[in-house]
Amino acid sequence: MRMLITAGATREMLDPVRFISNLSTGRMGYMLAEVARKRKHKVVLISAPTSLTAPAEVEFISVISTQQMLSAVKRCFSKADCLIMCAAVADYRPYTVVKEKIRRAKKSLLLRLIQTPDILAQISREKAGKILVGFSLEDKDYIKRSREKLKRKGLDFIVVNRIQKGGSPFGESKVYGAILDKEGDIERFKGIGKEDLAQRILNKVEALWARRSEKEGGDK
Ligand code: CTP
Repeated sequence: MRMLITAGATREMLDPVRFISNLSTGRMGYMLAEVARKRKHKVVLISAPTSLTAPAEVEFISVISTQQMLSAVKRCFSKADCLIMCAAVADYRPYTVVKEKIRRAKKSLLLRLIQTPDILAQISREKAGKILVGFSLEDKDYIKRSREKLKRKGLDFIVVNRIQKGGSPFGESKVYGAILDKEGDIERFKGIGKEDLAQRILNKVEALWARRSEKEGGDK
């Protein structure tokens, strides 16, 4: 398969030296790219900044902002069979980017933010027969909320990471959550490693692709 995978935390500049971002390390997306490559898929990895090294034999595209990630995904999507949107995309960006460094002059500073484009929601309009996989990070009502997200973004399945009490899964070696698909199936995972999760995600992508290819063959 031709797999398009995104990873990392997008950055939204506030002034020339500051940005808004999140704690994602990018490890899950890089792991997916590595495992997919080992399974002989053709992999394009679009990555926001991380401290990781790109896996071997993977086409690597480096981006910084959500807008840049959107452009890169749009450019590559037509040549892909599936998109795994693992990047932790910043949901908001500063309304204006200040041209010069903001000085420590005022006692308080009010930041006005505006929503970034929703990459998955936009790309799912051009979905055709491709497979779309999203991620979700939730605390309470994680199944209900993720199901809504799956529907809203037009996904085939969604990988839900549960925020454990008082923590976040970013940087953790063990992950907890579930994979929900649009048929309503749930596959829970509890305290597994990221490589194990990557294998499970790719098993599901490959199985879905095989079913689609079979159906297409049968329809002809
Ligand atoms: N995502 C995206 N574009 C954005 C934000 C998120 O494509 N601007 C993708 C992420 O890569 C992820 C999925 O959408 O695969 C879920 O993102 P999340 O931020 O959890 O969902 P939201 O719809 O922003 O909902 P929430 O209010 O829970 O943040």
